[in-house]
Amino acid sequence: MARILFHCVLFCFAFVFGQKDDNIITQTPSGRFVGSLMTSRRGRPIHAYRGIRYAQPPVGEMRFQPPVPIKHYKHVVNATAEGPACPQPAPGYLLDEDCLRLNVYTPGRLGNGSLPVLVYIHAGGFYSVSGRSDVAGPQHLLDKDLVLVTINYRLGSLGFLSTGDIHAPGNNGFKDQVVALHWVRDNIASFGGDANCVTLAGYSAGGVSVALHTVSPMSRGLFHRALSMSGSPYSQIPFHSNLLSLAVKQARLVNCSVSSTAELVECLRTVPWRVLGYSLKGFQEFSIDPILIWTPVIEGDFGQERFLPEHPLEIIRAGKLYSVPYIVSQTRDEFFWEAFLVLNNSIYRTLINEDYYKVAPSAFLLPSPSDLSAKALRREYLGDRDLGNTDIDYVDLGKLYGDAVIGFGAHRLANLLAHNNKEPTYYYEFDYIGNQSHYVDPTTGKPTGVAHHDELIYLFSLPAGFEPIPVSDSRDSFMVDKLTDIFYNFARTGNPNSLLDDKPVTWPPIHPSNRKYLRIGDHFSVHTNLFEHRFRVWEHLYPIEYII
Ligand SMILES: *[C@@H]1O[C@H](CO)[C@@H](O)[C@H](O)[C@H]1NC(C)=O
Ligand SMILES: *[C@@H]1O[C@H](CO)[C@@H](O)[C@H](O)[C@H]1NC(C)=O
Ligand SMILES: *[C@@H]1O[C@H](CO)[C@@H](O)[C@H](O)[C@H]1NC(C)=O
Ligand SMILES: *[C@@H]1O[C@H](CO)[C@@H](O)[C@H](O)[C@H]1NC(C)=O
Ligand SMILES: *[C@@H]1O[C@H](CO)[C@@H](O)[C@H](O)[C@H]1NC(C)=O
Repeated sequence: MARILFHCVLFCFAFVFGQKDDNIITQTPSGRFVGSLMTSRRGRPIHAYRGIRYAQPPVGEMRFQPPVPIKHYKHVVNATAEGPACPQPAPGYLLDEDCLRLNVYTPGRLGNGSLPVLVYIHAGGFYSVSGRSDVAGPQHLLDKDLVLVTINYRLGSLGFLSTGDIHAPGNNGFKDQVVALHWVRDNIASFGGDANCVTLAGYSAGGVSVALHTVSPMSRGLFHRALSMSGSPYSQIPFHSNLLSLAVKQARLVNCSVSSTAELVECLRTVPWRVLGYSLKGFQEFSIDPILIWTPVIEGDFGQERFLPEHPLEIIRAGKLYSVPYIVSQTRDEFFWEAFLVLNNSIYRTLINEDYYKVAPSAFLLPSPSDLSAKALRREYLGDRDLGNTDIDYVDLGKLYGDAVIGFGAHRLANLLAHNNKEPTYYYEFDYIGNQSHYVDPTTGKPTGVAHHDELIYLFSLPAGFEPIPVSDSRDSFMVDKLTDIFYNFARTGNPNSLLDDKPVTWPPIHPSNRKYLRIGDHFSVHTNLFEHRFRVWEHLYPIEYII
C-alpha cells in the first residue's frame, strides 16, 4: 500500500507539473518545491521559489496567536507564483491574511550548500509593504553568488496587537520573522545556501527588526551578520509593555467592544482582515503622522515564548547582546519630504505654527510628557520661528523630521554597537541622488534629496514603482554594482571591503572614540561623527548609557 502511494505521489507529481523546462524542483528535508526561472540584471538565470508558506495561515482562531511553523509539507509546493502581501490599505493589490510567505532566489547550479544567504526583512513601518518580488526583486543581488530570501510578516494590528496580558502579549510580527529564520536554517542548504552563513538585513521597520533579533533570546544563532538600514529601535521612542491604547483605538475604528481585553480581542478576531487592514488611516493624527504606530513591546510572562522578555538595554547590560559583524546606515535626508506635505498645505501649516505642542508628539514621535522636548527641538531646528511655505523652512523642518523619525535612532544604534558589539560595526551614510528617488519634486519630477528607502532602488529591482536600471556606464548602474558588491562581500566574509581589488578607500569599523563612517555617493569617502552636532540636543533630551 505504502509503495503504491509512493508511486502515485511520484506519478501525480510528474503528471501535474509535467516536464516543462521553466519549472525547477528542489527537495529539502521538509518537502518538495517547484519554482520558476527568472533572469538577473546581467542575464544570469535565477531559480525562484516564491510564495512559500513558512507558517500555518494565521487565520480564524489563529489570528493574534504566535505563528505555527510548517515543518513538513505533505504535498508538492507550487512555488512558481508570488504569494499575497499581508493586509494593508492597497487597493487592487494581491492581499490575504494567509500571508506568511517567503521567496527564495538562488543562482541555480552554482550552489552546493555553500553560498552565503541574505535574508531581507522589508520596510513599511510595520503596517505596509511586503517581501514580494515587485517591491524586493532579486535581479540585482542575484548577479552575485548568493541566496536571497525575502519574507513577509504580519502587519498592523494583525501583527502587533498588544493588550499586555494573556489575550494579546504582542510581538507576533517579530515571532513570524523568527519562524522564517527557522525555515531558512532547516531548508536553505537544499537551495545551495549555507545555513551557517546567514546575513539578516532589513530596511526601516526591517532594520528595527534586525536590531531586535540581536537581543531576542528567540533569534540567537539563527544568523551570523546583521544589517540595519535606516531603522533602529534605540530612538527617543520608549519601549512599553503593551500597546493598549492602540488596541482600543483599533477596536473603536471597527466598532468592537472595549469593555475588557478579552472581549476586545475576541471581537477583533471576527472582523474581516480587509477591514482591519484598511483601517490604517484612522490612526493618523496630523498629516501622515505618526509615521510609526506599532512598536515592539517588552512582553510579560503569560506562559508564551517571549520575543522580548526585557528592555533591550537591560539585555545588553546583562552581556546578552548577540555579537555579529554589523552594518548600520542612514540616508542623507531620510524623511525630509514630510516638510513639503506639511508646509505646502495651509491647514497643516497653520496647525504646526499655532498648535505646535499638540502636533509635535505625532510629527516627531516624542514620548509624553513632550512639551519640554518639543520646545528644545523647535529652538534648535526651527529657530523658534513660525514656519512658512519657503525653501529655508522646508530644509529646517525636513531635517527635524529626518532626525526624529530615523537619524537619531540610527546614530544610537551605531554607537551602542560601537561600545558593545564584540564584532566589527560599520556605519555608512547614503548620499547619492540618481535618476529616481522615493521623493521627487512634483513639478520637475526629479529627485531633490536622498530619501528614506533610496538604496533599495539599487539593491533590489522594484518594478512596482521604479524603472529598471540597465547595465551601462551610467552612474545609477555603477551604484547597483557598488552596493551589491558591498552586500556580497559582507554576506560572504563579514567585512564589506572587497578583499580582492585595490580600492582607493578602505571602510574601517566605527570605534567609540573614533566614530568613522563611509559616505556612499558618486565617490566613496571616510568621515567621522555623522551629523553629531544635530544629535546633541536629542542626546541631552533622551540620555542613555552607551557603556553598559
Ligand atoms: C501553480 O500556481 C500558478 C499560479 O497560481 C498556476 O498558474 C499554476 O497552474 C500552478 N501549477 C500547478 C501545477 O498547480
Ligand atoms: C558539492 O558537494 C559535494 C559533497 O560535499 C561535492 O562532492 C561536490 O564536488 C560539490 N560540488 C560543487 C560544485 O562544489
Ligand atoms: C461603525 O459604526 C459606524 C456607526 O454605526 C458606521 O458608520 C461604520 O461604518 C462602522 N464601521 C465599521 C468598520 O463597521
Ligand atoms: C505645493 O502644492 C501645489 C498645489 O497643490 C503643487 O502644485 C506643488 O507642486 C506643491 N509643491 C510641493 C513642493 O510639494
Ligand atoms: C538616467 O536615465 C537616462 C535615460 O534613461 C540615462 O541616459 C542616464 O544615463 C541615467 N542616469 C543615471 C545617473 O543613471
